[in-house]
Amino acid sequence: MIRKQTSKLWYYFLLLLIVMACQPSSEITQNGSERLQWVEIHPGVWKASAGQPQDITLLKAAEIQPDLPAIEKLSSPGFPLERSKINARIIDGKVYLRFPLEREEELFGLGLQYKSHHQRGRIYNLRADHYGGRDDGRTHAPVPFYVSTRGYGVLIDAARYITVYAGTGVRVNADHPPTLYDRNTDKEWAAQPYSDAVEILVPADGTDIYIFGGRSMLEVVQRYNLFNGGGVLPPKWGLGFTQRVPTLFSASDIEQEVRDFEAHNFPLDFVGVEPGWHSMAYPCTFQWDKKRFPDPERFLNGLLEKGVRVNLWLNPYVSPASSLYPEIKPLSGSHTVWNGVVPDLTLIEARSLLRKHFIDHHLSIGVSGYKIDEVDGFDQWLWPDVATFPSGTTGEEMRQIYGTLVQKTTAEWYKEKNQRTYGLVRAANAGTNSLPYVIYNDYYSHKDFVTALINSSFIGVLWTPEVRASNSSEEWLRRMQSVCFSPMAMLNAWADGTRPWSFIEVEDEVREVARLRMQLLPYIYTAFARYKYEGIPPFRAMQLVEGFSTRAEQVKGQLDGTTNPYGTATSKEIRYQYMMGEAMLVTPMFTGERSRQIILPKGRWYDFYTGELVGEEEIITVTPGLDKIPLFVKEGGIIPMIAARNQMPKPGEILPLEVRHYGEIAGEFRLYDDDGTTFDYELGNRSWTALKVENADNQLKGSLQTDKADFFNYKKEVHWKFMTKSSSAH
Ligand code: GAL
Repeated sequence: MIRKQTSKLWYYFLLLLIVMACQPSSEITQNGSERLQWVEIHPGVWKASAGQPQDITLLKAAEIQPDLPAIEKLSSPGFPLERSKINARIIDGKVYLRFPLEREEELFGLGLQYKSHHQRGRIYNLRADHYGGRDDGRTHAPVPFYVSTRGYGVLIDAARYITVYAGTGVRVNADHPPTLYDRNTDKEWAAQPYSDAVEILVPADGTDIYIFGGRSMLEVVQRYNLFNGGGVLPPKWGLGFTQRVPTLFSASDIEQEVRDFEAHNFPLDFVGVEPGWHSMAYPCTFQWDKKRFPDPERFLNGLLEKGVRVNLWLNPYVSPASSLYPEIKPLSGSHTVWNGVVPDLTLIEARSLLRKHFIDHHLSIGVSGYKIDEVDGFDQWLWPDVATFPSGTTGEEMRQIYGTLVQKTTAEWYKEKNQRTYGLVRAANAGTNSLPYVIYNDYYSHKDFVTALINSSFIGVLWTPEVRASNSSEEWLRRMQSVCFSPMAMLNAWADGTRPWSFIEVEDEVREVARLRMQLLPYIYTAFARYKYEGIPPFRAMQLVEGFSTRAEQVKGQLDGTTNPYGTATSKEIRYQYMMGEAMLVTPMFTGERSRQIILPKGRWYDFYTGELVGEEEIITVTPGLDKIPLFVKEGGIIPMIAARNQMPKPGEILPLEVRHYGEIAGEFRLYDDDGTTFDYELGNRSWTALKVENADNQLKGSLQTDKADFFNYKKEVHWKFMTKSSSAH
């Protein structure tokens, strides 16, 4: 008996040793820095820990589930950095990290920034916040992840305010010190001496670090996205048009709004109900206001019968007037926001209480999703860092993960119902890639909105350049065109009461672009499917396109005693053009702009509308009219479309397909489909259909082959449209 126990103990001891050996750890070297032990946890994904990582981290809050089969389909790169050049130290209860940088290397990512893509040479304090007009790290998705042109990415998994010196610090003993120039006489003198490292300060006594490898920057981003569970696949209705109605709108106001959309023959898949539906807001009760919504169930069903869904605005701060309050209060933080308590969403008890309330009051009667506001910051409208939470999570940690927690908590309720949702949120962080939320904010620069859309592709989040109001019909149309080429085509009229036809002079053009979005459903839905299954962002930066020159041109700053006393240089950025899906280049235009320079990546490119050749790996200048957003398709590109309509197809609807082909060479497009509303795709109820164009003896010919006809909701007799007229095949 005793012997048996002893051998059992040995067994456990051995097991413990094995587990410890598999844990990434570090050892202290002679110079006091830690030698990080990198463990390849999945092909091309390495993990190491410096010091004692915290219990709460960004990825733990998101409870990520890596898509291993998909990761295994990518290349198997070797460890992408020189290990001895990666340095970690714990000093004064903080982690000091250093990663090497080569001279030619460029960096992207580091949170949702609005004015810049190139991050080398910048300093960020990454902190969940409302974007305040400066790229300083305070933003809606302060994701501590960067990707390098050398084909690797680095993620710091700590729910803290992380400071990143992205190639700015110059050490006395730098491996590659900058050249010394004399400002008095030397034209080469630069205000930013060369730096050979990214340095990161994590204000915690430990952190987990991940390194992602890849053949290209796109593959690094794919691996990062797949590691976090892949991208989100929205319901089809989520990709239609959405109108958010003014505050205090009642059920009958909204019903009238829907009738107006019908009268104007304008697309509408879901309405967003802004403050006014709660019996009290801000803080919120999450209970219907009886005066404005006397019979919510009838209201919701009435709209559903018309094919219109409802998304409810809320912020998560619980009002003392809510029936939830007495039970949720002890499970909430020490401080209030807008006079409401802040549920500690790391606690299962708090989540369960909310679950019951929200299911009873909303999901069970037909609410399709939420807009979760105010979880980002604006310091005075959030709990302070001195706030405490019953779970022991600190105020700072909670701030970095709250956007993640509200997304995850609500998404689970829909998953339980086997019903997809697609909503809005004002904060996200690393690990939220697969959650069905799009980020928005109150900032309203059209140009910066487009830059943010591009930047979102480096960090695994989605962003919408929502439209609210405009000073002219030109601005209105230009904004509408941009938002129709983004993850959520939304007009947010909460304050201005605008409608798509608010500027009557451009009503037709606005309708046309909204209906073009509807027509592109098969193409856009497939782009999202590739986000989910392959990690390829549906809207992405040009730098993620193969064959695109990524070099950031440095523009020497003009010396000026007050605005630029050191003559600081800036990077020339490609802020206003991006890819949608695999073959389409989008270049939104801005008010007052008559022409635009566009950089075409490798290969030939064609005008989407006419099929004409526009150029090949060069910079072109276009002078589009006001009526159209310039769109280009690469050679051999295939764009599957449906007829214009006002709502996305319902499950089971079988639609005719028009397939456009551009250029004169063969091409192939793998079209994705499923029921568009449930999670049954996880059981294999989905189809991939090869749309192929071949060029035989200068004759273009299209063919279609589907793997699962039952889940292909299009007619098989496709209308092939060879768009490039110079082709001999017609
Ligand atoms: C803001 C939000 C707006 C709108 C408004 C309603 O915080 O960004 O989109 O929802 O609240 O009060």
